[in-house]
Amino acid sequence: MNIGILGAGNMGGTLGKLWAQKGNEVFFGTRSPEKALELSKLVNTRAGSYEDAAKFGDAIFIGTPWSATEAMLKDLSKYLAGKIIIDCTNALAADFLSLSIPPSISAGELIQSWLPESKVVKAYNTIGAKVLLNPNYDGTIATGFYCGNDTGAKKIVAELITQSGFEPVDCGDLKQARNLEAMTLLFLNLAFKQGMGGQIAFKLLKR
Ligand SMILES: NC(=O)c1ccc[n+]([C@@H]2O[C@H](COP(=O)([O-])OP(=O)(O)OC[C@H]3O[C@@H](n4cnc5c(N)ncnc54)[C@H](OP(=O)(O)O)[C@@H]3O)[C@@H](O)[C@H]2O)c1
Repeated sequence: MNIGILGAGNMGGTLGKLWAQKGNEVFFGTRSPEKALELSKLVNTRAGSYEDAAKFGDAIFIGTPWSATEAMLKDLSKYLAGKIIIDCTNALAADFLSLSIPPSISAGELIQSWLPESKVVKAYNTIGAKVLLNPNYDGTIATGFYCGNDTGAKKIVAELITQSGFEPVDCGDLKQARNLEAMTLLFLNLAFKQGMGGQIAFKLLKR
């Protein structure tokens, strides 16, 4: 499928490469001409402006810092109608251990309100960027939690989560983004305050 990446940093850059390796066509949107040149040399990729990435993708990955996301999406909204929006953002406060938005709302729901004609799926926000490089822990596969309101969009995102090496787990409608974003606070606390480091990952056990 055609995937546009908005913000080719730790998350967007890495996931874009993984999806391209799996045969998807990936367009990296970046503000950096040097980065664009480098990324466009990979198999199944091209790169250019955020606007061109937004036009290209049937699915659009948001990989920008929360503080930059609202203005960017409102600017690009006319290209995003009807498309799948894969939202990994966390509205982190300056301390990186709390959120800058109240628990009665989520970044995912705010993005859906800014893009009412798009299909927002929250995904990857509970996964540390370093873990994207290897989600396999001695045979145990880390979980990729996701949620959203559009069943078809969620099915496609679940496939992309699988392609990137994680086990997808559907958490329900987009309101569940509140829980997924709170999980990130637990992740950050464990990784950086409790000293476990950025290679930890969540795994849902079932029987
Ligand atoms: N890092 C993690 O472990 C992790 C885990 C889960 C979720 N997240 C979430 O993922 C998102 C991206 O995090 P990241 O770690 O990938 O960040 P990052 O490495 O800093 O990359 C963010 C990218 O956004 C673009 N950007 C930065 N400021 C911008 C602005 N003012 N306007 C437009 N674009 C801008 C930059 O791309 P260009 O320079 O190429 O334009 C940059 O490479 C955040 O919302 C974060 O909360 C991160």
